[in-house]
Amino acid sequence: MTHDIVIVGGGGAGLRAAIAAAEESSNLSIAIVSKVYPMRSHTVSAEGGAAGVLREDDTLEFHAKDTIFGADFLADQDVVETFVKEAPGELVQLEHWGCPWSRDPDGKLSARPFGGMSVNRTLYAADKTGFHMLHALFQTSLKYENIVRYDECFVTSLLVDDGRVIGVTSLNLYTGKVEVVAGKAVIMCTGGGGRVFPFTTNASIKTGDGMAAAYRAGAALKDMEFVQYHPTGLPGTGILITEASRGEGGWLVNKHGHRYLEDYGLGPPSDTPVNRKMELGPRDILSRCHMQEHMKGNTFEGEYGHYVHLDLRHVGREVIDGKLPFVRELVRNYVGIDPVYEPIPVRPVVHYMMGGIHTDITGKTTLNGLYAAGETACVSMNGANRLGSNSLTELLVFGARSGRAAAQFVAGQQAPSASALEALAKDEQRRLDSNFMKKEGGTEEIAQIREEMQAAMEEGAGIYRDETRMKATCDKLSELRGRFANIKIVDKSEVFNTGITSALELDSLLHVAETVAHGALSRKESRGSHTRTDFPDRDDVNYLQHSMCYQTPDGPRVEYLPVTITRWQPEERKY
Ligand code: FUM
Repeated sequence: MTHDIVIVGGGGAGLRAAIAAAEESSNLSIAIVSKVYPMRSHTVSAEGGAAGVLREDDTLEFHAKDTIFGADFLADQDVVETFVKEAPGELVQLEHWGCPWSRDPDGKLSARPFGGMSVNRTLYAADKTGFHMLHALFQTSLKYENIVRYDECFVTSLLVDDGRVIGVTSLNLYTGKVEVVAGKAVIMCTGGGGRVFPFTTNASIKTGDGMAAAYRAGAALKDMEFVQYHPTGLPGTGILITEASRGEGGWLVNKHGHRYLEDYGLGPPSDTPVNRKMELGPRDILSRCHMQEHMKGNTFEGEYGHYVHLDLRHVGREVIDGKLPFVRELVRNYVGIDPVYEPIPVRPVVHYMMGGIHTDITGKTTLNGLYAAGETACVSMNGANRLGSNSLTELLVFGARSGRAAAQFVAGQQAPSASALEALAKDEQRRLDSNFMKKEGGTEEIAQIREEMQAAMEEGAGIYRDETRMKATCDKLSELRGRFANIKIVDKSEVFNTGITSALELDSLLHVAETVAHGALSRKESRGSHTRTDFPDRDDVNYLQHSMCYQTPDGPRVEYLPVTITRWQPEERKY
């Protein structure tokens, strides 16, 4: 299976990259290799919306400034400026491809308030935005005959010959065979790895496979310590209750019925329809406020731990059914209550990784021939804290950029050498056989290691961090890595062997977890989502820098890279 460009991942970024590459030239052969059918990718579950400047009261400068402040000045400002400039065109393009953006009665595109955004700029399709965006991208991709798909194929490694990426190996989940998908360039679009934590909005497929494959092949993972908690997930399942429910006027109240955010410098509550403080503060701050309330004994205690209430009753049935129908459906199905009449139990849950495979503004990584886009990449527009609704637009803008850049790159490249492909594929087959497919013996349970990893991450790399607990987490992860070598795989069957898939995913998760924990331990300051009780202040003198994690036999090596500042000098981040 030989192509010009191999895209790994069939979600929003992967499909947008494929379309962009196909538009560059109909002569290019483009493959999408995805471990799930594309419409099952996690983009489908995005709810609240996609940000871009399309209304008269907004400007590119406002959007850039909000994003840079939200990022606690760790975003590369040239990247943010490019993002805000290209965002509106991508959002309009998506409507032309079939995405049904919600509209106001006068026919204009509706835009809703979102956390940390100074004006209403989040376009939405009710609260099923991800579903509609993914559908529009998927159906558009189908019209290009030069895009071919390998669905339900799990990419196990990048093939690198003499410093150049020449394809991937992929486990065909249907047949159990390992196949080579060769390409002159590879674009990683595999999403994040929120499953390293126990409470997450992330689908179970989000195990950081693309990040781990790039890391193992020598690429740097950047800013991995920055993990976003979303303040309103359902306890137990972690299912997202969209920020749009606060954008439409929902309140967060503690067990005393008090809108506690006013006690944290985010108030006072105002009677204006859109309160840009309080419940529309940025996610890192709201998640910390929740933990403070918990420590003061002001949260409820339930079967799945502490929670507060998200109260939508005053928002009313008409708005809930018109703009938040999915919230009502989810809460009825998964909590058994109706948010029109009862408040929703919510708690902070891991939602998004600001870090990922280090790329430049075109999506190019430091490995020749490797590109990345979407949550799996870190192009450095989200810095230390992403603003909600920027990531759906990010996957469009940088998905398209990486597709175009890869298309231009392959034009000057020779086809990969067949003998190199064969030799590399044999090595990978041997590794997979001995570690997974034909592994004999072993006593460690996959699920047990995964649970211990998740507990260690929550304990040492959660919302509040300190040196002692982070060191304990790093030690635990290295112990788990050792035990992983002794895992037990009982099922040796070939067709949809979920034991082998879980083992491969756990391998990825352990790599991702280690980079998060080591990145966090090295960064001796507090910034955005990274809050250290032992270093409570931001330190621009030493840490206005991106962390870069490289794999070594002794665990991650952390280096630093300066942040790009253009027009906005760092200042205290106040709301
Ligand atoms: O709350 C939400 O709808 C999430 C949006 C986002 O993470 O961008």
